[in-house]
Amino acid sequence: MKETIADMNDILLMLDQLILEEKKFNWEDFYSDRNRNVPFFLNHPDENLVSYCNDFKLSPGHALDLGCGPGRNAVFLAEAGWQVTAADTSVKALEWGRERAQERGLAVNFVNQNIFHVEVDPHSFDLVYDSGCFHHIPPHRRLDYLQLVNRAVKPGGYFALTCFVTGGELGGSPQSDWDVYRNRSLQGGLGFSSERILEIFHDFKCIEIRKMKDCQGTGQFGSSSLWAALFKKPEHL
Ligand SMILES: C[S@@+](CC[C@H](N)C(=O)[O-])C[C@H]1O[C@@H](n2cnc3c(N)ncnc32)[C@H](O)[C@@H]1O
Repeated sequence: MKETIADMNDILLMLDQLILEEKKFNWEDFYSDRNRNVPFFLNHPDENLVSYCNDFKLSPGHALDLGCGPGRNAVFLAEAGWQVTAADTSVKALEWGRERAQERGLAVNFVNQNIFHVEVDPHSFDLVYDSGCFHHIPPHRRLDYLQLVNRAVKPGGYFALTCFVTGGELGGSPQSDWDVYRNRSLQGGLGFSSERILEIFHDFKCIEIRKMKDCQGTGQFGSSSLWAALFKKPEHL
């Protein structure tokens, strides 16, 4: 490894490494036992995503699911008539997702890649959805994340996410962006306030931001320790 810094990309790679070196957690291990009591292991779609489709009447088109995990939201969207591309770095999660899609006779384009390496035709998606991936993105990659979302979503299309409420039951580290590098850790995922989410995604128009509804035994997933936000991309962007 050359370990010299010649351009901005070298700085980003160095910062990736700084956090990775301290990381004991690994998504492949996390998905290796499907019977673990992890709320989002159940094959239930996010309650807010169901609401965007049913109450906000998002019409089926092309959807991109970022950090799709075992595909519960991708499968829901495909069943509702969307053409879905779903990306995740975990091989095990995607195996599980493919099985889920197959069981229902659905076609989902599962892509085993870092979201930042997924080839995206510019402005080709009607919806980009992220359930629980954004809060695992280190702050130095946030600009890349915004560029990805901006490039992927059509003018007039939608971006929606769920992410940790700071100090919530499921996680949500209260540390500052600078502390991530002092601590060399995302501490299991960053927590956000609604104001901070609005600030980060200020180029898009916020249609709704609220805590998820707690859902148990409803066939949907929801936890009030997660924010749910729906944004619309202006026609001129
Ligand atoms: C909390 S899980 C959520 C999984 C899924 N969205 C769900 O809600 O069921 C976060 C997922 O993001 C994936 N992930 C994190 N960073 C990623 C990246 N840079 N590129 C692709 N996937 C990523 C992880 O592998 C993991 O499956």
